[in-house]
Amino acid sequence: MLMKFAGPYSHFRVGCSILLADGTVVQGANVENAAYPVGTCAERVAMGTAVVQGAKKGDIRAIAVATDISPPASPCGMCRQFIREFCELNMPILMYDNEARSTVMTLGQLLPMSFGPEKLKTTDEVEHGLSQ
Ligand code: THU
Repeated sequence: MLMKFAGPYSHFRVGCSILLADGTVVQGANVENAAYPVGTCAERVAMGTAVVQGAKKGDIRAIAVATDISPPASPCGMCRQFIREFCELNMPILMYDNEARSTVMTLGQLLPMSFGPEKLKTTDEVEHGLSQ
């Protein structure tokens, strides 16, 4: 778990590891910015990296998030939605505390009644008037 980058402003360390079907683990940490809202959470850094490396929906088996607090922190709302785009609702999200104790919940439990890409028309449907 990548935990060496303490945010220089919040001093709150967050590490995120994404397990892919082929056994690869993609890591991320929170990347902060002097303009505070511009900073990015560990989960979105890791997920963006996985997507850029070619990970598709179905390739992602589990996500782990670690912080220095107890009980464990859970992904923020924006990250839950970001993850939702690329993962199945039954995918486990493991949340680790400062003693490596973990709580696990599925994405669907963390983000009930969620909105996802399947709710939108595809480019084909829009361009050719096709409907499902
Ligand atoms: N943070 C994350 O990286 N993931 C979360 O799920 C919650 C918050 C980061 C953002 C910021 O760098 C710091 O933790 C304090 O909010």
